[in-house]
Amino acid sequence: MKSSELRQSFLSYFESKQHQIVDSSSLVPGNDPTLLFTNAGMVQFKDVFLGDDIRPYTRATSSQRCVRAGGKHNDLENVGYTARHHTFFEMLGNFSFGDYFKKEAIGFAWEFLTQVLKLPTEKLLVTVYADDDEAFDIWHKQIGLPTDKIIRIGDNKGGRYQSDNFWAMGDTGPCGPCSEVFYDHGEHIWGGPPGSAEEDGDRFIEIWNVVFMQFNRSANGDMSPLPKPSVDTGMGLERIAAILQGVHSNYEIDLFQNLIKASAEVVGTDDLQAQSLRVIADHIRSCSFMIVDGVVPSNEGRGYVLRRIIRRAVRHGNKLGQAKPFFHKLVAALDAEMGDAYPELRKLKERVTAILLKEEEQFAKTLDQGMRILEEAIEGLAGSKVLPGEAVFKLYDTYGFPADLTNDVARENGLEIDEEGFEAAMEAQRARARSASNFTMDMSGSLDLDVQTEFTGYDQLEDRCVVETILLDGETVEFVEAGQQAVVILKNTPFYGESGGQVGDQGWLSGGVAFKVANTTKQGKAHLHHGELKEGRLSVGDSVTAEVDRSMRQATALNHSATHLMHEALRRVLGDHVVQKGSLVDSERLRFDFSHFEGATAAELEQIEDMVNEQIRLNRPVETELMDIEAAKAKGAMALFGEKYDSQVRVLTMGADYSIELCGGTHVKRTGDIGLFKILTESGIAAGVRRIEAVTGKAAVEASRSIESALNQVAGLVKGNKDTVLEKVTVLNDQARALQKELDAIKGKLAAMAGADLASQAVDIRGGKLLVAQVEADPKALRDMLDQLKSKLESAVILLASVNDGKVSLIAGVTKELTKQVKAGDLIKMVAPLVDGKGGGRPDMAQAGGNNPDALPSALASVPDWVAERV
Ligand code: ALA
Repeated sequence: MKSSELRQSFLSYFESKQHQIVDSSSLVPGNDPTLLFTNAGMVQFKDVFLGDDIRPYTRATSSQRCVRAGGKHNDLENVGYTARHHTFFEMLGNFSFGDYFKKEAIGFAWEFLTQVLKLPTEKLLVTVYADDDEAFDIWHKQIGLPTDKIIRIGDNKGGRYQSDNFWAMGDTGPCGPCSEVFYDHGEHIWGGPPGSAEEDGDRFIEIWNVVFMQFNRSANGDMSPLPKPSVDTGMGLERIAAILQGVHSNYEIDLFQNLIKASAEVVGTDDLQAQSLRVIADHIRSCSFMIVDGVVPSNEGRGYVLRRIIRRAVRHGNKLGQAKPFFHKLVAALDAEMGDAYPELRKLKERVTAILLKEEEQFAKTLDQGMRILEEAIEGLAGSKVLPGEAVFKLYDTYGFPADLTNDVARENGLEIDEEGFEAAMEAQRARARSASNFTMDMSGSLDLDVQTEFTGYDQLEDRCVVETILLDGETVEFVEAGQQAVVILKNTPFYGESGGQVGDQGWLSGGVAFKVANTTKQGKAHLHHGELKEGRLSVGDSVTAEVDRSMRQATALNHSATHLMHEALRRVLGDHVVQKGSLVDSERLRFDFSHFEGATAAELEQIEDMVNEQIRLNRPVETELMDIEAAKAKGAMALFGEKYDSQVRVLTMGADYSIELCGGTHVKRTGDIGLFKILTESGIAAGVRRIEAVTGKAAVEASRSIESALNQVAGLVKGNKDTVLEKVTVLNDQARALQKELDAIKGKLAAMAGADLASQAVDIRGGKLLVAQVEADPKALRDMLDQLKSKLESAVILLASVNDGKVSLIAGVTKELTKQVKAGDLIKMVAPLVDGKGGGRPDMAQAGGNNPDALPSALASVPDWVAERV
């Protein structure tokens, strides 16, 4: 029986028993924020079980698409390694909402399995919850199963109702004891019946779970009875199809075989048994249906689960040798298999294909490098079996490797990953992100300030303000006098307090006084004006005019707005793995740190610069809007992953949705205000973190001018102009290289000549010659000279010395047969200390340096005696 016929046969059977056929619901549960994905057929009926939703029917049946990846029921890591785990599967189910209960539910299941599907009864056995005598009796007395085929399973997972035979949708919600039907695949397969030590084997496979829904579990663990006892059942379509098609593994059923063949084709392999093909065939189902149901790859929540699965699939394709995007091509094959039963897939297949392709392309940029880093990390383990959390984090953070992907590779190498270490690194990352976030501030001050300054500086740079608190040396005071440095806190202020990477404002508080504000910071919700009272006496309660330094504020705004444009350009040019790691914006420049695995090329930097300048020329308005966080995310605002925001956030949109970010900073009115954007430097500051420094407006013009002026100066030196300078410098460079070559050759010749000359100065000693000489040569030439002398003198002890820049170079050489008596290393060890030096070497050659050239003549003079004692 084909999978599609089986699906239909199930629904028809229950329809004949007065069940309403209900369409599969979305994978994204509409009624339940506690659940990541629809993981069972009952999810769409949750409220019906709870009595909060009334339907026109009390019996229903469905074939529900389910995902078990992320969340309570998570099978992702098992996919590909077992015969039966999937990220996506179809659950056939029948449901009773206060209609029938245990007796009928068990009766239907048995009848469908043995009468409709005609499974041999001797192959079936069942489990019941340990104290569910009622279910036990129904199986035994009504169905006629022998008692040894009915196994009681208690709380085997540690804790009340923590049992394989007590089913719960999630941590909260409807739940109840259950009874499961198992199929015996036969003695030739390893495994034991449920409850036995070998139950994890593949011989006895659960095919149908019949849940007797009786309770609602609340968040604190309390169990309250449901309005009416109900029934929820689930049978994995793929498992039952395997049995009917006489195969053992789910991956051998018709539907999967077709997907595996299609996968082999797009990956370009003939090996249909490759485990990776199973992974890919499984993953195309979950990924496609998630996208059909509105999920898109992202760095959080459902989107991140999707991203993880896509990346895992891509990695497996890569493992089989496919370096190009292939995964998206499988949507067509999936449509052929499942499009009839799921018209929503057929309708959206182009969109699904496009989204997968984009994600594949993006990951391809980092996959190779990440794999290389991972392989190096594995090689460097030196016997340890655990991959450090830091390495797992780096792969995640820099190369976009989800931890479970790294784990997958680790497992193939017989290793585990240090999950705790990874989590710790993640947490540290979140903390760093928080301190760089535009919505957090330094709360570490020792003072307990509960002042809430109202910030009025988004629209105005001058305001009448009342002095709320004055701090002198960290203590609150009632007033300060001229000449004192203090911190002034106002009830309201147009001064921006340093946060989110933007520096604090400077300016003046005036009106009978003159307080020069050198910086503004934030502590809690208070804005602290740091500065000096130049004139008058300033008291708590005074009214002052607070005026921000306009030109600095404006220059800062230019840089801040340009930072947003550049952030978006970086993501578009380098890929959307680019995440802000820190930023600093002041009136002179902007500095932006971001995650990227390699230096941006000159061409990429140019592209980024062009993109930002294009947005500037478009001169579109910069808009801010206050909205709740969910609305902001829905709008696509870039928010920091894992971060908690206030419920109301400020969303900054630039260039008609070109860039949307959460930001509390101050900005230009239109992008054109920025004038010009110029990148000054790009560099690495830590593994996987790059830094760009750039300037805007007047500073950008000045930067261009200073480059031009430097160029003009160089041109002047080579007697050219800016059009000819490149050619002239190239010529000079070539000339310099040729001259150097010539010079080296001449030096070599000179050394050889000097060598010949020196040889004649050698004196006779027993067994050969002795030559001690000070020469003019650099250390490299000394060596050449020594070699020549050695071959010329044939049997000799030689010591050469030279002085360069106040330093002594010594080299000693002894020809082979003489090394028995005199060792060059010993000779050097004797001479070097005499010139305040150190050195050593082999018996035939040794070198040293020394710091006392004045002592050289006497040091050399001591050599003949020393040698004479030895030969
Ligand atoms: N909801 C039950 C299960 O998923 C049937 O096993």
